[in-house]
Amino acid sequence: MADGCAVQLTAPNGVTFPQPTGLFIGGQWVKSSLGKTITSIDPSTEKPIVAVQAGSVKDIDDAVSAARRALQDPSWRDLPGTERGQLLHRLAGLVDEHKETLATIETWDNGKPYSVSLNEDMGEVAGTLRYYAGFADKVFGQVIETTADKFAYTIREPIGVCGQIIPWNYPLAMAAWKLGPALACGNTVVLKPAEQTPLSILYFANLVRQAGFPPGVVNIVNGFGAEAGKALASHEDVDKIAFTGSTATAKDIMRMAASNLKNITLETGGKSPLVVFDDAELENAVEWAHAGIMSNQGQICTATSRILVQAGIFDQFMEAFKKQVRNVSTVGDPFDSNTFQGPQVSKAQLDRIKDFISVGKAEGANLEMGGQPQATAGGKGYFIQPTVFTGVNPQMRIFQEEVFGPFVTISKFESEEEAVALCNGTQYGLGSAVFTTNLTKAHRVARRIEAGMVWINSSNDSDWRIPFGGVKQSGIGRELGEAGLEAYSTVKAIHVNMRSKL
Ligand code: NAI
Ligand code: MG
Repeated sequence: MADGCAVQLTAPNGVTFPQPTGLFIGGQWVKSSLGKTITSIDPSTEKPIVAVQAGSVKDIDDAVSAARRALQDPSWRDLPGTERGQLLHRLAGLVDEHKETLATIETWDNGKPYSVSLNEDMGEVAGTLRYYAGFADKVFGQVIETTADKFAYTIREPIGVCGQIIPWNYPLAMAAWKLGPALACGNTVVLKPAEQTPLSILYFANLVRQAGFPPGVVNIVNGFGAEAGKALASHEDVDKIAFTGSTATAKDIMRMAASNLKNITLETGGKSPLVVFDDAELENAVEWAHAGIMSNQGQICTATSRILVQAGIFDQFMEAFKKQVRNVSTVGDPFDSNTFQGPQVSKAQLDRIKDFISVGKAEGANLEMGGQPQATAGGKGYFIQPTVFTGVNPQMRIFQEEVFGPFVTISKFESEEEAVALCNGTQYGLGSAVFTTNLTKAHRVARRIEAGMVWINSSNDSDWRIPFGGVKQSGIGRELGEAGLEAYSTVKAIHVNMRSKL
């Protein structure tokens, strides 16, 4: 399977490409040992795209062994950081070269608008890899003076074999967030993509090989969460698990990781608030508030899904927000350049949103906009109207639970105290946004919000140079920025005795 058992596919936008369908283990393309497959679905048409190999417990075991061998192989273990950086640079360059194909696959498989895949996601992938390429020869320790008889120094070592379990909302970008720092620090990886979006990462695997990474440094095994994911999270020879996905699955992963005390990084759910104070610049707040929940079909862990507006500006905000939804949120074919919102990734996600719409109505909230599947020309696809609820109280499930769709609640508050209490009144603490022109209020409120990230006068303005992650039940650990290196390296202290006798 030199080519990954590639099949030639032509996407709806006319782009033709070889799509690998195998498991990428030890630098080779192999078939699933149990002959299982995952059929990838186009969420715009509900039609199958192609079936790919799905890994079993044995395949994960093979991939972990390959990663362990690569970790101990001098070609990787002793490779100078500068050269690891060059490999990452080469990979980033290949992503740029192949970005139209990668973006095409991403849009076909996930449903996100092609303009977003191409201009946002692929830039994020290459940018993140390049950022960590620069760090590869800058991961070093300290010299620590103690007494005249002794000094110590620290070195930063890779953690080892890292299992990475990624979600379907930003398939390649989430892979890059995890691969960049892991490889910069000299780890080896077994990556399990989400079963809803297995395709783009297989094409990317060939770029990893072309960039020149030694075999086994990066292994990519598609498979089901309950089988391949579970096998990876509970594997006794895996040193770390990094996961992005639901809080419920993260809890299972934490439990499984306990078997051999794996290092963990978890990036999970959210119900991020966006606060608009009376003194905010209204137009700016409306634009960011719309993008903060409606972008990427609302399938963003940091989506600002609870908008809190101060009473004095509430009616004006509502009117402008609804207008923004009507003017900007065009729902339809993700390959059409006029589309803002494509289909949800799967029927399960569409059904989940529909359920929450019923819940919101049953709880007595006011459905201001949307609330229905969006009819399309072909009558197929997982399309939903952008949905807005008001009249929401903090006890309601639609105020507390992550929906993960173009679904927002807008509530009114009177005082700063009340806004902070509403912000902090959920189990989550991922993102948050504050709109005000008052400098001191902005920073005061930013400190009081329980969240891993606060955006002042923007929303979801994520950046690979800046740490990303959550508090409370939104996660453990940080990705991106220099903080991302800590998740993938461990400090060894070496004590040097100069002359003292015991
Ligand atoms: P999920 O958390 O179950 O899946 C995410 C990843 O974990 C996938 O690769 C999946 O195969 C894997 N996985 C699932 N069960 C596993 C297990 N027992 N052991 C090891 N790996 C396992 O999320 P799902 O079902 O795709 O979506 C459900 C909800 O999760 C969404 O509606 C959303 O609320 C949330 N979610 C949050 C994301 C985020 O970015 N924080 C991304 C995806 C989903
Ligand atoms: Mg799909």
